[in-house]
Amino acid sequence: MRLDKFLAGCAGSTRSEVKKQLKKGMVLVNHVVEKHPERQIDPEQDCIELAGKTVHWQPFIALMLNKPAGVVTATEDKRQKTVMDGIDHPRKKELFPVGRLDIDTEGLLLLLNDGALAHRMLSPRHHVDKTYYAKVLGYVDEQDVEAFARGVDIGEKAPTLPAKLEIQSVKEVEQPLWETDSDLETPTEPATISEIYLTICEGKFHQVKRMFEARGKKVIYLKRVKMAGIALDDTLAPGEWRELTNEEMERLQRLC
Ligand code: URA
Repeated sequence: MRLDKFLAGCAGSTRSEVKKQLKKGMVLVNHVVEKHPERQIDPEQDCIELAGKTVHWQPFIALMLNKPAGVVTATEDKRQKTVMDGIDHPRKKELFPVGRLDIDTEGLLLLLNDGALAHRMLSPRHHVDKTYYAKVLGYVDEQDVEAFARGVDIGEKAPTLPAKLEIQSVKEVEQPLWETDSDLETPTEPATISEIYLTICEGKFHQVKRMFEARGKKVIYLKRVKMAGIALDDTLAPGEWRELTNEEMERLQRLC
């Protein structure tokens, strides 16, 4: 691995910071000053020091991305933008998304380089909790709460596993009957919009949307806010990402 890539990936510096640190002679490889960013090192064998401190190789990397709407959850796609397009991490090539969010869904997406951990997190045996915030067209009520707690038929072999539905608000709004660019007033009709949080422990295709459809309601906005005990960092704007903290990383590894 190139020395600058190692430092950017493991010492938390940007590539341009690394360049300056190398130039200033702040980096030692096996106790000898090294100024060449392209120097090849073995991350597991060589001793790398930056400003007098040993930089330890991090085999596992994990990021949280606030997925924006309009990008597909894939590492590559011929036609559409993917969740990887906005990631400029030095070890980006090793990363892949854990599970899938629909193209129009926003929010927490974990990107890992550890296939075994990702596999365990997605395995139906482990029942990893995922919490979604949604706006739903329709009046969500206590009967929906009870139905989701029992499990609903979404056309699979078995009903969904018990899920926790929390109703935040139910409001009547005037919704436009059609979109117009003109200054003329657009006719509106009243509609009921409910805001909810739903926690599920499965990951069936379009699961949240299908659960509400089964109750005769339509999800019009969906955002994942928590997964495996890790909450979406609310300082991240859509499209922004950060590395998981050590505590979040440990939580993941303890989980399954
Ligand atoms: N459920 C859905 O319907 N869509 C998602 O993207 C995630 C969960």
